Amino acid sequence: MTPASPAVPGHIGIIMDGNGRWAKARQQPRAQGHLEGLRRAKRIVKAASDLGVRYLTLYVFSTENWKRAADEVGFIMALVRQYLKGELAFYRQNRIRIRHAGDIAGLPADIGRILREAMEETRSFTGLQVVLALNYGGRDEIIRAARKMAASGALDKETITEEALSRHLDNPDIPDPDLIIRSAGEYRISNFLLWEGAYAEYYVSRKLWPDWTEEDLSAAIAAFNARERRFGGISA
Ligand code: FPP
Repeated sequence: MTPASPAVPGHIGIIMDGNGRWAKARQQPRAQGHLEGLRRAKRIVKAASDLGVRYLTLYVFSTENWKRAADEVGFIMALVRQYLKGELAFYRQNRIRIRHAGDIAGLPADIGRILREAMEETRSFTGLQVVLALNYGGRDEIIRAARKMAASGALDKETITEEALSRHLDNPDIPDPDLIIRSAGEYRISNFLLWEGAYAEYYVSRKLWPDWTEEDLSAAIAAFNARERRFGGISA
């Protein structure tokens, strides 16, 4: 892996939206959109790895996505199983580490198990870290963090600080996202990285996720590089 250059955001988050619309436009079942969405996710993981991105958080399934029809939920879970089992050789070859954000206890038991196995298997890899946001909700993550603080006896007026809450989030060692990308044109955050994304730059692409290519990732990074980040301060 090439080392991250200053021109490449260290942590990118992606809301992979538009699979359903892509399928509908082709008179195909929604499942076909998710299947193509998975193929694009694999390409973008490889591109991010080649570019030297350190962390890539993919919004795969939200805490709200359980409201979808049972067959669609079942299909997405089957894709996740296939991805976790089928990509190990690819992770090994590219030294990619798999991580998870979200409530693992709420996932089907076998997915929880293979996810833990994939994380264990790739733990020592020092290349790109791919964080699968799976059964993830930003509000849920903050509530679980507060509960962890309560369980450790750290919930009183003095000990409730930004730093303390950050330490109880799902992946406290991972820096906040620099760039959050959303495909398919909607200008909303949909409960993704609410705490961590406080100072992220947002980039909305009109392209549907199953149409995404390596060039779209490069265009998002170029747009990021044209922004001036002030983190609440003023320009030099
Ligand atoms: C949003 O499109 C997409 C999802 C809820 C599922 C995302 C899942 C994948 C891309 C496949 C799994 C990926 C990995 C890496 C395991 P939508 O269905 O909301 O689209 P719509 O808004 O057009 O209906």
